[in-house]
Amino acid sequence: MSSRADWSYLDHAATTPVDPRVHRRMASCMEREGTFGNPSSVHPWGRAAAAMVDQAAAQVADLIQADPAGVVWTSGATEADNLAILGAARFAANRDRGRHVISARTEHAAVLEPLQQLEREGMEVTLLPPEADGRVTPDAVADALRDDTVLVSLMHVNNEIGTVQDIAGVGEVLRDHPTRFHVDAAQSAGRLPIKAEAWGVDLLSLSAHKVYGPKGVGALWVRHRPRVRLEPLLFGGGQQSGLRPGTLAPHLIAGMGEACAIAAEELPTEAPRLAALRERLLHRLMALDAVMLNGQRQGCPHVLNLSFGCVNGDALQAELDGLGVSAGSACSSSERGPSHVLRALGVPDALAHSSLRFSPGRWTTEADVDQAAALVAGAVERLRAFSPAWREFGQGARLDELYGGNPGHAQESKA
Ligand SMILES: Cc1ncc(COP(=O)(O)O)c(C=O)c1O
Repeated sequence: MSSRADWSYLDHAATTPVDPRVHRRMASCMEREGTFGNPSSVHPWGRAAAAMVDQAAAQVADLIQADPAGVVWTSGATEADNLAILGAARFAANRDRGRHVISARTEHAAVLEPLQQLEREGMEVTLLPPEADGRVTPDAVADALRDDTVLVSLMHVNNEIGTVQDIAGVGEVLRDHPTRFHVDAAQSAGRLPIKAEAWGVDLLSLSAHKVYGPKGVGALWVRHRPRVRLEPLLFGGGQQSGLRPGTLAPHLIAGMGEACAIAAEELPTEAPRLAALRERLLHRLMALDAVMLNGQRQGCPHVLNLSFGCVNGDALQAELDGLGVSAGSACSSSERGPSHVLRALGVPDALAHSSLRFSPGRWTTEADVDQAAALVAGAVERLRAFSPAWREFGQGARLDELYGGNPGHAQESKA
């Protein structure tokens, strides 16, 4: 199998194709007859573009159940995370309100790297270790909270293992504390309900390309009542109240708005449909021996991460001709070696290396999932035929004896 038309794309956590309805909306913003104006201009072209931007903000805000006035457009979730973290922490530190930040070891690099920058600027960062399934409990956050804590940053859904954090519970813990609460919701948007205001979130990051919108646009929602203030990262023409200056991109923003509106409308049917596909895949692959689930049994419906014991990770990837998935050892181009998320869970390096992330999406069918399961099962069986570890496993060795570490983090299929 080599033509891409025969491949199954199960990597929607990495990115999604643009929905044709979104594409049509975007196209209507680009040409002479469309809403191409500069939203800052006062003439009819500018006013039309500004109205379109307002409509898109309302669509985004509706998806996350928040005030549209708080939507700040960015280039994606990476920029939104940077603006939230650097902006909130620097604002507080510059006013001597404190220099302590809490986050988790399993966060995306778009959160971990600005946190490292804060450390270089003299701030103190506590990175909480996760439970075996990737959760960081509200109690763990409460224990780490100090009088000088100025920011707590936790992702809603983990991009590698799909673990869902109890954002409402953490919000409750922080309710009477002056710290700001940032949530990276790049993966949960459109897959789980989000109640930003009700959960006590102050700052929430989104990315359009994870929800069938275009690449190159995202948003940071910033609470307005009571007002959360940030130091900007960019300086320029004063757009977006000076918080993120630069000419707005009407076609990208309209695309993100439309993508969020579709996601909100389809969420009640799409979430259970994806959950059923995840369950189907899990069931088929756990029928193979020595397979470990990384993350929660009932994780976010679009992410399933499994480690295949007694299989060489590189060889497994090489065998997967026909399947577009991500490998646990290469979750981001900047990360060499086993994923920091799987390491934080206590997954032995060899098992992290032989892990795969399956991520179904809007157009994934049961047939795609079955094809994926058959391909992976075939590859695993072929590779195990040559594996000394597999022979030992067959003679009664346990995975923790074969790999060391703590495979108790996950559920083994049989062993
Ligand atoms: C949880 C999470 N945060 C942030 C990002 C970065 O998003 P973007 O590609 O929009 O910069 C991603 C995407 O990989 C993600 O999964």
